[in-house]
Amino acid sequence: MKLHTLATFISLGLGVSATGIHDAISPHAKRATSILFNPPGFPPLPSPGEAQTKSAAAGLNLNDIQGDILIGMRKPVELFFFFGISNTAAFKSKLKREILPLVTSTLQILNNDTAAASTLVNIAFSHTGLVALNVTGDANNLNDPPFAAGQVNDVKNLSDPGTTNWVPQFVGTNIHGVILFGSDTEDSINSTLASLQSKLGNSISEIYSLRGAMRPPPNMGHEHFGFLDGISNPTINGFQGPKPGQAVVPAGEIIVGQHGDNVTRPAWAKDGSFLVFRQLKQLVPEFNKFLADNPIVEPGLTQEQGSDLLGARMVGRWKSGAPVVLSPMFDDPALGADDNRNNNFTFAEPGQSQSNLTDQSKCPLSAHIRKTRPRADLGLPENSTSFHHIVRAGIPYGPEVTPDETSSNTTEIERGLAFVAYQSNIMNGFQFLQEFWANNQKFIQRGVGFDPIIGAAGGAERPVNGLDPTGPVRNFTLSTDFVVSRGGEYFFAPSLSAIAHTLSV
Ligand code: HEM
Ligand SMILES: *[C@@H]1O[C@H](CO)[C@@H](O)[C@H](O)[C@H]1NC(C)=O
Ligand SMILES: *[C@@H]1O[C@H](CO)[C@@H](O)[C@H](O)[C@H]1NC(C)=O
Ligand SMILES: *[C@@H]1O[C@H](CO)[C@@H](O)[C@H](O)[C@H]1NC(C)=O
Ligand SMILES: *[C@@H]1O[C@H](CO)[C@@H](O)[C@H](O)[C@H]1NC(C)=O
Ligand SMILES: *[C@@H]1O[C@H](CO)[C@@H](O)[C@H](O)[C@H]1NC(C)=O
Ligand SMILES: *[C@@H]1O[C@H](CO)[C@@H](O)[C@H](O)[C@H]1NC(C)=O
Ligand SMILES: *[C@@H]1O[C@H](CO)[C@@H](O)[C@H](O)[C@H]1NC(C)=O
Ligand SMILES: *[C@@H]1O[C@H](CO)[C@@H](O)[C@H](O)[C@H]1NC(C)=O
Ligand SMILES: *[C@@H]1O[C@H](CO)[C@@H](O)[C@H](O)[C@H]1NC(C)=O
Ligand SMILES: *[C@@H]1O[C@H](CO)[C@@H](O)[C@H](O)[C@H]1NC(C)=O
Repeated sequence: MKLHTLATFISLGLGVSATGIHDAISPHAKRATSILFNPPGFPPLPSPGEAQTKSAAAGLNLNDIQGDILIGMRKPVELFFFFGISNTAAFKSKLKREILPLVTSTLQILNNDTAAASTLVNIAFSHTGLVALNVTGDANNLNDPPFAAGQVNDVKNLSDPGTTNWVPQFVGTNIHGVILFGSDTEDSINSTLASLQSKLGNSISEIYSLRGAMRPPPNMGHEHFGFLDGISNPTINGFQGPKPGQAVVPAGEIIVGQHGDNVTRPAWAKDGSFLVFRQLKQLVPEFNKFLADNPIVEPGLTQEQGSDLLGARMVGRWKSGAPVVLSPMFDDPALGADDNRNNNFTFAEPGQSQSNLTDQSKCPLSAHIRKTRPRADLGLPENSTSFHHIVRAGIPYGPEVTPDETSSNTTEIERGLAFVAYQSNIMNGFQFLQEFWANNQKFIQRGVGFDPIIGAAGGAERPVNGLDPTGPVRNFTLSTDFVVSRGGEYFFAPSLSAIAHTLSV
């Protein structure tokens, strides 16, 4: 079973005996390894001690911020459990007595040596969920229009082609919340879920669930198109690193009520974060066929290398994670795996003026990572609030491509990315990136076209320019969306103290 292989890989590859900051013996099994996956190329997480010192200095309470928000794409296995609240009073009491004790804080997830660290449990509520929790009046107004509307009412702004491709349970606003279970084994998720469900009884009902898992070796940490995913996440002041080129943003860009978040909101929302969930289906054989059919023709490149180059330019990174800016013709796995170098770049050529960004010889303006984080392209400091950062925390779902699908060039079994993004403001975060950068053909300058990975045109074909480094002589019009939105919902992941003192009373 592939998940056992995964667990073995982690303990063999990364096993170190625990030197936790708490010396007390936990009554539960004590872990010597983290449940999290830390592939080469990802910026390392801080040790609990380091995180505690730095966050205290920055005024952050990592005991109160839910554990999934700042750690990124590192759960080997995850379950998203979407539910409706059936009985408010019963659920509130269960929320306090059964769920809250399991909710894993940031400090707990960094610390291997705690019982809570065998399965990360986090919870978030939709707007209709807050209403179902009887959070009304001013307390209900989180001042975030997309959140208040629900994702089903954001289809137009996001340019999804309607909701016909959506998972039916996401069409509507019946989902009140989501419980996230993350671990290194499916077993531990299953047992945590089973035990919680027996305690919650019929205070809630399951509406939908989605299981995600890292891909099996050698593709662990890679999304289904094949690219290492999770390298570049911003860090907030007082948490992590930073590594060279990693964006350091004011905490308030991700965490509500912190420095940099100046939106007026009820006091209970402090230290929470908006969680955007999207089930993004990926048409992998179709994507591979497009690359095979359109290789970039350059002296010294085989046809296969030309296809790989086209894929790398669509993303802005090679499959190993190496940025095309630093390695424009061929993949460089050592660079992809080196967290001191794989983020240390901008898209501007040395000496190039900010007003001359027409050079796409190394990286197209439309490339996914350039559209979603233009770095120096806008001529503003990276930590400026106009930079629209999110923390990505998703995971692949669905099986590997089958031989049948490969030979027919056609997806038969659904697979994709269970996309999760955290931010203090959905309008400035996920919605902005999708609507005003990925889907905007005039991003930075005219004629750039769509982000070829996630750009959406409401189902219409998508012009994408700049992909061919030999010059703008060859423009593409993509008639297939390689990423198909299956919908999702907007949630708010509250602080642990908000669960204790506001949401469960
Ligand atoms: C199935 C859909 C998607 C795929 C396959 C995908 C894939 C990737 C890959 C391979 C990277 C480069 C590795 C890294 O920097 O971690 C990346 C980066 C990124 N993606 Fe996506 N992505 C998807 C959806 C999205 C969506 C919906 C958004 C937001 C609207 C998004 C925003 C970002 C951001 C902000 C980065 C980091 C850019 C940087 O900091 O340099 N992605 N994605
Ligand atoms: C947690 O586990 C990781 C590897 O699994 C290890 O590198 C780290 O030192 C451990 N941390 C603690 C506090 O034990
Ligand atoms: C909802 O809140 C109102 C006013 O605070 C209170 O009177 C009512 O009992 C609450 N209902 C439930 C089900 O908790
Ligand atoms: C969609 O965009 C319009 C125009 O900017 C805005 O008024 C509306 O609130 C947005 N809808 C959602 C659900 O965010
Ligand atoms: C976990 O539960 C799911 C759904 O019931 C099941 O398909 C899967 O086999 C279980 N995994 C393990 C390791 O027992
Ligand atoms: C919030 O901060 C941004 C950036 O500093 C600023 O442009 C904006 O006017 C501020 N909004 C309010 C309501 O203070
Ligand atoms: C990062 O890039 C800069 C400029 O290109 C270079 O001077 C510096 O040495 C690089 N840092 C690392 C750690 O490679
Ligand atoms: C702008 O960049 C292009 C491509 O690198 C270059 O050919 C051109 O000379 C530059 N123009 C200016 C004004 O710097
Ligand atoms: C942004 O970064 C600059 C330079 O690193 C620093 O001086 C400034 O204080 C930062 N601003 C914020 C809002 O963090
Ligand atoms: C799949 O696509 C490849 C590349 O275009 C092509 O050579 C092959 O004939 C296609 N297979 C089928 C069954 O269409
Ligand atoms: C490709 O698109 C760019 C931007 O719209 C345009 O300047 C260029 O002329 C186009 N090239 C061709 C060959 O149509």
